[in-house]
Amino acid sequence: MAPTYTLNDGTSIPALGFGTYPLKGETAVATIVSAVEAGYRLLDTAVNYRNEREVGEAVRTCGLPRDELLVESKLPGRHHEYDKAIESTRASLASMGLDHLDLHLIHWPNPSVGKYVEAWRALVALQKDGLVRSIGVSNFAEEHLSRIIDDTGVTPAVNQIEMHPYFPQEHMREVNEGLGIRSESWSPLGKRQAPFSEPPVASAAEAHGVTPGQVILRWQVQLGSIPIPKSEDPERQRQNLDVFSFALSEDEMTAITALGRPDGRLFGGDPHVHEEM
Ligand SMILES: NC(=O)c1ccc[n+]([C@@H]2O[C@H](COP(=O)([O-])OP(=O)(O)OC[C@H]3O[C@@H](n4cnc5c(N)ncnc54)[C@H](OP(=O)(O)O)[C@@H]3O)[C@@H](O)[C@H]2O)c1
Repeated sequence: MAPTYTLNDGTSIPALGFGTYPLKGETAVATIVSAVEAGYRLLDTAVNYRNEREVGEAVRTCGLPRDELLVESKLPGRHHEYDKAIESTRASLASMGLDHLDLHLIHWPNPSVGKYVEAWRALVALQKDGLVRSIGVSNFAEEHLSRIIDDTGVTPAVNQIEMHPYFPQEHMREVNEGLGIRSESWSPLGKRQAPFSEPPVASAAEAHGVTPGQVILRWQVQLGSIPIPKSEDPERQRQNLDVFSFALSEDEMTAITALGRPDGRLFGGDPHVHEEM
């Protein structure tokens, strides 16, 4: 199992979680239960993944008490209006068959729509009402974070951003850290173009007797970001969680981070241009 961090609201969160996109249907339930059996305690979903029902079923049937698992979901862009955000979150809980979420994030800021501050006010209210334990955001740039913090005085506990060796997010990691926000990494292995055979990754894997995937996830952990790798394969699920018994040297860390490219945004989701509904 992963060690935990304390978030800025005093709650704790595992240093590594499980991604569930694009799992669906009965295979999804079995895959998520298998991940829990492998030791994952943090499960990431979203309204837009259309698998909250399956995540809820896995949580309810896996055999672990509810309070040993953390479920995190995300509010979609089309639900940013205050009342819609409240209704959407209640609907998420109903489809999961759960009475609270451990973490709820605004999925994307969608700045051209301009309602993310309203969505944030709704999340603050949901947290006060106890329907959501911790609140955070995803794909937020510095200016979006400033606006919601200035408006409500409430700082997100987490900012989930795309991060992998080709897109190491040095600036956003610094911004998050400066504000006391824990970074979380989506597509932590680099999904679309995983850098498994890049020399710094391959040589560290050989040196530590682990897989390239484990090297990348260890790099994430040492940078203090919470990776949420998705795998349907029980062996890869197990491997991806087994990254807490070796450490990369400073040179290895630097060499992997240097894989980040000046055109990293080609790989990354630039919050200024990328919006979802
Ligand atoms: N906030 C956002 O906007 C956002 C956006 C995208 C994703 N997410 C979240 O982030 C999670 C993870 O991101 P992701 O699924 O895009 O990418 P990822 O976890 O980096 O990569 C998943 C891919 O890598 C393979 N894989 C997993 N472990 C491996 C290993 N050890 N060696 C080799 N291949 C391995 C998986 O295949 P197998 O299943 O066959 O193992 C799958 O094809 C998602 O599931 C979702 O929950 C959030």
